[in-house]
Amino acid sequence: RHGSGRHRQGIDFEPVAPNTADAVTVPDGYEQRVVIGWGDPVLPGAPKFDFNAQTAAAQAKQFGYNNDFVGLVPLDSSGRSSLMVVNHEYTAEVHMFPADQYDPDNPTEEQVRIAWAAHGMSVVQVTRAREGGLKVVPGRYNRRITINTEFELRGPAAGSDHLKTSADPSGRKVFGTQNNCAGGVTPWGTVLSGEENFNQYFANASAVSDPVAAERLRRYGLPSGASRRKWERFDKRWDIAQEPNECNRFGWVVEIDPNDPNSTPVKHTALGRFKHEAANVKITKDGRVAVYSGDDERFDYIYKFVSNGKYKPGRSAHARRHNMSLLDDGTLYVARFTGDSPASEIDGSGTLPSDGEFDGSGEWIPLASGNRSFVPGFTAEEVYIFTRLAADTVGATKMDRPEDIEPNPVNGRVYAALTNNSDRGAAGKEAADEANPRNGNRNGHVLEWEEAAGDAASTTFSWRLLLVCGDPASADTYFGGFPKDQVSPISCPDNVAFDGYGNLWISTDGNALGSNDGLFAVPVEGANRGQVKQFLTVPIGAEACGPVVTEDVVLVAVQHPGEDGSSADPQSHWPDGGDSQPRPSIVSVWKRGRHGRPGHIGR
Ligand code: FEO
Ligand code: CA
Ligand code: CA
Ligand code: CA
Repeated sequence: RHGSGRHRQGIDFEPVAPNTADAVTVPDGYEQRVVIGWGDPVLPGAPKFDFNAQTAAAQAKQFGYNNDFVGLVPLDSSGRSSLMVVNHEYTAEVHMFPADQYDPDNPTEEQVRIAWAAHGMSVVQVTRAREGGLKVVPGRYNRRITINTEFELRGPAAGSDHLKTSADPSGRKVFGTQNNCAGGVTPWGTVLSGEENFNQYFANASAVSDPVAAERLRRYGLPSGASRRKWERFDKRWDIAQEPNECNRFGWVVEIDPNDPNSTPVKHTALGRFKHEAANVKITKDGRVAVYSGDDERFDYIYKFVSNGKYKPGRSAHARRHNMSLLDDGTLYVARFTGDSPASEIDGSGTLPSDGEFDGSGEWIPLASGNRSFVPGFTAEEVYIFTRLAADTVGATKMDRPEDIEPNPVNGRVYAALTNNSDRGAAGKEAADEANPRNGNRNGHVLEWEEAAGDAASTTFSWRLLLVCGDPASADTYFGGFPKDQVSPISCPDNVAFDGYGNLWISTDGNALGSNDGLFAVPVEGANRGQVKQFLTVPIGAEACGPVVTEDVVLVAVQHPGEDGSSADPQSHWPDGGDSQPRPSIVSVWKRGRHGRPGHIGR
């Protein structure tokens, strides 16, 4: 259906060379500008950002910290106006306050409250700027979701005894969402967002002596002593010794409806509880909804949920309510990947096996459906709330940190970023397998799979690695079979997105090759499959997140610029320059066109 030339569109730019500049660097012929950054006003009455005088009340009306996922929900059929929905994954207090005002061992209550307000999500109305890119416009949809926003827990585990606390004896009402990493825009115009490293906010897991409960806390990495941010000093819900179940109320996929600023956001228990990197939807052949999500931890798993009910097309309030309810009733699966090459040919070096590819078959192992558990020794409720432990017992494949997973709207295959896993093959740990073929994997890889009969409801699939990342000059890398002297080096893939031609765009976090992180594009079809080209680089210490690629705008979230520094020694002064503090911000990129109008990305 697609001529081989067609897939080349969308990636006709000259690659940006790897660099360590404290800047966003885009290809020749492209322009870029910050759309919004930490502290900029979101809600009416928000004060102008003042680094030296920040307050919790101001922060609750301003753009939060450390933007990660970015989704555009169109407000009109032309797509010129949109709601930009952004995750604020976490706070880096050493960058958020003047050095002489912040003591990491003794934060003030106001500083902690600022951090609560800087977490969560933002909804910001944006429109196309005449010259190109996006600009913020005042809008009635603007919203901040913070640690204090009320959420409804829904699905088969809602109301469970494991979810009840002294503040919420119903087990159905939670305040806040935190560590929202990546996410996805649903076909019905809502946004799914993954609560990822929720564990780090809790303290005193060691107070729990019951061995079953203690093992659950251990498997989810809950800290034994004080938490890094010391929130437990100001609200007992962060103290496991006082509120042992509050931590079970995080680690979910949340859904917010940006079209209704008064709606109560939802936590979907049917999708399981783990360190959700993201969640993305694909409609099955019979009109149901599949959701893919990875658990971003070394040696953790890839999951899929398939609804029982059918999707109602459209974005009316009625359709949105119906479709949101689909994610409360269905079957949760975990993935097993089986290689097709002899184990003796998978030696952990990354050398291709004799059939020329890291590839094979796979199956989706059911864990629970509604109130029925398929895992011996686990009730359905336990499967949903302690999903990792259930998946440990069924032979799921331990992966190299599953990050973003997204279906390709053009070819129908599903793509997953496996960011890295330095522990692969270490003493006492799993050695390389064909789906995770390098021991001490520092640069990560990108996996693609095709569900049987192209149907997202199938319980079997075929898979292969598209990229084994790293320095193309190194023998342990693979670029979809494309000549390696014609590709950009790429390391630690994290978020994935697609342009209208089905080309894969990949943002990176933690470049192990010594240059800054960035955004890359790669065709997945035809003669150019595997030709990775770097589209942009981000400033010093920053991670590139949230890519959105439309026909006239590319959006990238610049997260944690100057990460290894502090406000006393910021290391990055992006985006304001001079001796300013770095500020995580969203950047829009466009192609310079004629007559002052933006060009078409890829033409
Ligand atoms: Fe928050 Fe898995 O990156
Ligand atoms: Ca093979
Ligand atoms: Ca991520
Ligand atoms: Ca990351």
